[in-house]
Amino acid sequence: MRSIFMDNRMENRIESHMESHTENGATLLASGSASAKTILFGEHAVVYGEPGLAIPLPTLRARAMVHAAPHSSDIRVHAPQVGIDAPLDSLPDMNPIRAVVTIFLERMKRQLPTGITLAIDSDIPVAAGLGSGAAVSIALIRALSALFQLPLDPDEISDLAYEIEKIHHGTPSGIDNAVIAAERPILFIKGKSAEPIDVQLDLPLVIVDSGEKSNTIDVVADVRRGYPANEKLIRRIGNLTRWGIDALLSHDLSALGGLMNENQRLLTALNVSNETLNRLTALAVAHGALGAKLTGAGRGGNIIALCADAADAQRIAKILSEAGGIVR
Ligand code: PMV
Repeated sequence: MRSIFMDNRMENRIESHMESHTENGATLLASGSASAKTILFGEHAVVYGEPGLAIPLPTLRARAMVHAAPHSSDIRVHAPQVGIDAPLDSLPDMNPIRAVVTIFLERMKRQLPTGITLAIDSDIPVAAGLGSGAAVSIALIRALSALFQLPLDPDEISDLAYEIEKIHHGTPSGIDNAVIAAERPILFIKGKSAEPIDVQLDLPLVIVDSGEKSNTIDVVADVRRGYPANEKLIRRIGNLTRWGIDALLSHDLSALGGLMNENQRLLTALNVSNETLNRLTALAVAHGALGAKLTGAGRGGNIIALCADAADAQRIAKILSEAGGIVR
């Protein structure tokens, strides 16, 4: 059996894993996971320097596992949801999974051993405004940092993932990688800060997929074409985020809901909503949601509806599901 390990320190760590972790017969060397995210306020406006408020969605996750493949001389990638089961070096340079590995190894000055499989799996729908790309990148970065025993802080993880976000999204604000790396609610300002928000509040949110894909690059480019005509709208969205922080910190769900409705109205005026998103948000509000809006780039993807409590959230989720939405 060829040695796949790079130094004694690593070998020791892996041996201890060998005793404790096996999965489908393959030894699990290291793993990492990352949550989805939702933007409560401020999508699109964050691209123009306005604040955005985002929270992680810990129950929807992407996972990355590094397995030993002792009879192989490859570094293999197994990501069935995106149709990849191939050697890492056969993927195009700009493939986001390959790019994560390349950037990680370059920055950390490490080399991957051969005879391993990088397995990726995710519950997060792709192109749906829930940060699937950033979550996969961060899960993989965490797995690699565990493999090499290189602990990284959230800012370092976010910076690495941002490089990949540029491949996914062109000119992203960085809000997705920042909130997913932080694993807590953040107030985000592009190029300046991702400030954690200290709030102990379980929001009764229903997340519903329209089933239509949201193409972030195209929608962001369209909004840019409409700028500066839309500048006023953008600034108003920024103000909603500022008020949203106050409502969140004071646990005022009904104020929060009202601001979400206003945010949805402004996003519709910005031409980033669509018929399905309008229908689902209106239906949620008509049935008692405190507020509802699209989340992410829009023209597809998910809506979020804030409800008074968990029972109401269940009731409204059922109504939206019967109306054709996919409850996440
Ligand atoms: O669609 P998502 O989840 O990638 O969210 C994009 C958020 C935008 O504000 C529209 C773009 C950005 O880079 O912030």
